[in-house]
Amino acid sequence: KRRDDGLSRDLYQLMEEANNYYRSQLRSHNDRQKVLDYLDLRGLSQEVVDKFGIGFAPDGWDGLLSRYRNNQDAQDKLLTGGMLIAKDSGSRYDRFRDRLMFPIRDRRGRVVGFGGRVLGEGTPKYLNSPETPIFHKGNELYGLYELKQAHRDPQKVLIVEGYMDVVALAQFGVDYAVASLGTSTTADQFQLLLRNAKEVICCYDGDRAGFDAAWRALETALPLLKPGDQVKFIFLPQGEDPDSLIRQIGKDAFEELISNAKSLEAFLFDTLTEQYGTDKGNFAKQAIVLIEKIQDTVLQNLLLEQLSHKLGMNNADDVKKKLGFNAKPQQPMSSNKGLKGRGT
Ligand code: GTP
Ligand code: MN
Ligand code: MN
Ligand code: MN
Ligand code: MN
Repeated sequence: KRRDDGLSRDLYQLMEEANNYYRSQLRSHNDRQKVLDYLDLRGLSQEVVDKFGIGFAPDGWDGLLSRYRNNQDAQDKLLTGGMLIAKDSGSRYDRFRDRLMFPIRDRRGRVVGFGGRVLGEGTPKYLNSPETPIFHKGNELYGLYELKQAHRDPQKVLIVEGYMDVVALAQFGVDYAVASLGTSTTADQFQLLLRNAKEVICCYDGDRAGFDAAWRALETALPLLKPGDQVKFIFLPQGEDPDSLIRQIGKDAFEELISNAKSLEAFLFDTLTEQYGTDKGNFAKQAIVLIEKIQDTVLQNLLLEQLSHKLGMNNADDVKKKLGFNAKPQQPMSSNKGLKGRGT
């Protein structure tokens, strides 16, 4: 379906109305005090709540639905938009109930989906809109619209894991972060960011999942890189995420981390070194698997050059000759023996 056909136009309208409804509930619902308490607990200011259009979906099955009681057409569209769920009997109810609502806007500022967080403990912690004709998780980035409002031509963009990270960072003045909606950062999202900023910095949670996400991000980014693109990485202390960390150390110290972010090459070589230690054969083999993913030959040669130095060789050509650059990685390489003897 085309994005700007009649259905989509009405859907955008209804998503905006839903967001206005959630925002109005935050202002006036009888239960709003518990939401205000939760915002307080999380340290979110009224200003940043307004900036991101955060709202409240009250408990109950038909808070949103009841506003369209006599409008079957709107109900059908809200169902298509993922805001309602249909029972087998055909009756419908609100998908989002008793949650803090984060509207997800597309690049033009249109609400295309929501993330809803439980107010405290509970599962799922976050409930996200399903894929719909106007919402494709892998193509959207939470906070990109708000970022572009603040910076038309941002020099750098931070990718973080969560809604709360984006919002907390913005509140502290780091207003150039986006989140990749619960999935790992996709190639489309990287491409979108690299089109918007020279420097893209991955800053995932300081835990195993966050580290794995960073490594997947590296593998995703490699084929997209062109000379001049900078993809970098920040590794947070164990147990911290950008939200919790900036509250502890403040903006300046956080931006210090950003300016000391690890280059993609350093992350790649450091991780392989950690993994393979002095086993230069496997180190080289795995480095080559990764470097082969790079499409840009200038950049590829640059990495091969760096690899050659790590292996105690002279230059990229040396690596290509001695390691058979296009050799299948799972097959043993003929130069392995000679390589092992070299040390360094
Ligand atoms: P807070 O606990 O509110 O600080 O959120 P967080 O962003 O730190 O949560 P976490 O690090 O656990 O998860 C990162 C992101 O993954 C979230 O922002 C969500 O987008 C997504 N996520 C987390 N939990 C769930 C879940 O239960 N279901 C779904 N679908 N996504 C989740
Ligand atoms: Mn700014
Ligand atoms: Mn996490
Ligand atoms: Mn968090
Ligand atoms: Mn987190």
